[in-house]
Amino acid sequence: MDRRFVLKLTAGAAAVAFGAGLAFAAPPPLEKKDSYKVGFAQTESNNPWRIAETKSMQDIAESCGWQLVYTDAAGSAAKQVADVDSMIAQGVDVIFLPPREEQPLLPAVMRAKQAGIPVFLIDRSVDPNVAKAGEDYVTFIGSDFVDQGRRAAEWLKENFQGDKGVIIELEGTTGSSPANDRKKGFDEAIAADDRFEIVASQTGDFARDKGRQVMETLLQAHPDVNVVYAHNDEMAIGAIQALEAAGRKPGEDVTVVSIDGTRDALQAIIDGKMGVTVESSPFFGPISCETMKKYAEGQTIEPWVKVEDRIFTKENAAEHIDEAY
Ligand code: AHR
Repeated sequence: MDRRFVLKLTAGAAAVAFGAGLAFAAPPPLEKKDSYKVGFAQTESNNPWRIAETKSMQDIAESCGWQLVYTDAAGSAAKQVADVDSMIAQGVDVIFLPPREEQPLLPAVMRAKQAGIPVFLIDRSVDPNVAKAGEDYVTFIGSDFVDQGRRAAEWLKENFQGDKGVIIELEGTTGSSPANDRKKGFDEAIAADDRFEIVASQTGDFARDKGRQVMETLLQAHPDVNVVYAHNDEMAIGAIQALEAAGRKPGEDVTVVSIDGTRDALQAIIDGKMGVTVESSPFFGPISCETMKKYAEGQTIEPWVKVEDRIFTKENAAEHIDEAY
């Protein structure tokens, strides 16, 4: 079916919906066909998680009938907005978007909708108070980040040996949904246990080197730290480097807890330097293909297609390291 015809249908459906008091209640439809021009607007490629996510999308492309239009925003929300706008101008059929931050990508999501292009948010979300799944975009496919933070805290509460836990928290990218939600889940669970205190919480932008630098600085202000909670494995590895450079012994005098499940993190667990990493799967290719096909067939898509995550500790890290990235 020709895109203009689909747009006319969409406009017609919108007019009917408006008359019924349901103005613009649905995202644009997607025609069922063999091949799609698919936009995938990646946030950055500076860590193993992002590289694994991109590879997963590229690997599924041929079997799912995708001609992939891939962009890399190189860590800039402004560039990611421009990348989505360019995809709209190129007339892609559908856009898969991991919004780098919750607010700046909102207008781009709305412009795609206005252009009749269905958007699937993958891995990260936009501000849920402004844009709605099932209305402004099709769905959010991804993990429960609040639960990931909560599970990291619960592991700490069960396994911490000392009397008093002095915690440094390394936050992810400011304004991103995983940073907001992982903080909420962990901080709330920790607040309920008076053995623990979070003495500092600062962003390391989900990056190893930034995590290392921030940890170096915070260590000077809080030499009594004995727990590090990092919102991702790259920052946890950076923190371990900073701790070791300062003569500390991660895994012995500092408990490190984290999220993702990268190969380096599983190795750090095997080496006894990290306690736990809660999985956050980057393998979005198959689930994105499956969800898009269901949508094109007219099936109902839930507002949140949840990705289930495991937990890696010294009990199972060796068993899973070969499947890590
Ligand atoms: O959005 C998921 C997070 O983004 C991952 O935990 C992190 O490693 C990545 O950069």
